[in-house]
Amino acid sequence: MTWNRKHLLDIESLSADEITTVLDTAKAFKAVSQRAIKKVPALRGRTVVNLFIEPSTRTRISFELAQQRLSADIVNFTADASSLKKGETLKDTARNLEALNADFIVIRHSAAGAAHFLARTLNTHVINAGDGSHEHPTQALLDAFTIRERKGTIAGLNVTILGDILFSRVARSNIWALTKLGAKVTLCGPSTLVPRTFEAMGCRVTHDVDGAIRDADIIHLLRIQHERQRKTMFPSIGEYTQLFGLNKARLAKTKPDSLIMHPGPVNRGVEIDSDIADSVRSLILEQVTNGIAVRMAVMFLVNGGKGAQEITGG
Ligand code: CP
Repeated sequence: MTWNRKHLLDIESLSADEITTVLDTAKAFKAVSQRAIKKVPALRGRTVVNLFIEPSTRTRISFELAQQRLSADIVNFTADASSLKKGETLKDTARNLEALNADFIVIRHSAAGAAHFLARTLNTHVINAGDGSHEHPTQALLDAFTIRERKGTIAGLNVTILGDILFSRVARSNIWALTKLGAKVTLCGPSTLVPRTFEAMGCRVTHDVDGAIRDADIIHLLRIQHERQRKTMFPSIGEYTQLFGLNKARLAKTKPDSLIMHPGPVNRGVEIDSDIADSVRSLILEQVTNGIAVRMAVMFLVNGGKGAQEITGG
């Protein structure tokens, strides 16, 4: 077991052993989730505030379910009904939550660095649920968990991430996690959204979609993140779909056992053909389900939990 961190802020600073500890712990929690009684007392008496200042469906709800299953007391902060609307700063908001005895703050924010800022400012545990285009560490951990569960290993796999890489925190966290675990990562998309600077993260960069997916074991699709783009990055959505969307003709030229992933929300008919999203090769909903066990593992370890043995009693 390798884990001695107060926070989970990013994947970049984690070692391969730390990532593996999260995945092994999540495996034990997934077994717990399949029992009749899904709750464990690990966070009993601990208060968690889910501070989501940017929209979310999957991350917010799976964090809340994870916290319920760990027996935590939970407060869901609603940005639109808060004093942020009256001009209160993030720092003051968070310090007031700490004064109200929050032990954990799970933060999603549109600003890169928001989670690191809170970790420097507060004494609570801080978990990054997505900060701007920077990182989305629990998404990468649940993606790695899903790949390992389906393929048995991550080392040596060819993983292609296809789409809007430049503005994607999911891409950055996945690149860090997958390369640390020994996968060969290829990035593909329009040159405006997949600059060669990403090669410095240990990836192959290509703008040839057929070549990028031909030998892939995993094809991980990303949506176009219009909310983070300040200028037009390609001529039209229709042209993007034609040149880079995963359709049946393209899929037919891939390995028959390649699997399709997407962090959601999916723009059906844009980055992925709707039938492919619902096909047996799609892991999209498995990723969502695995998010609960992975977020249980993260909160358990950050709280000082000792790893899978403590859950299984082994
Ligand atoms: N994957 C993901 O972060 O989805 P949400 O924005 O719905 O949380």
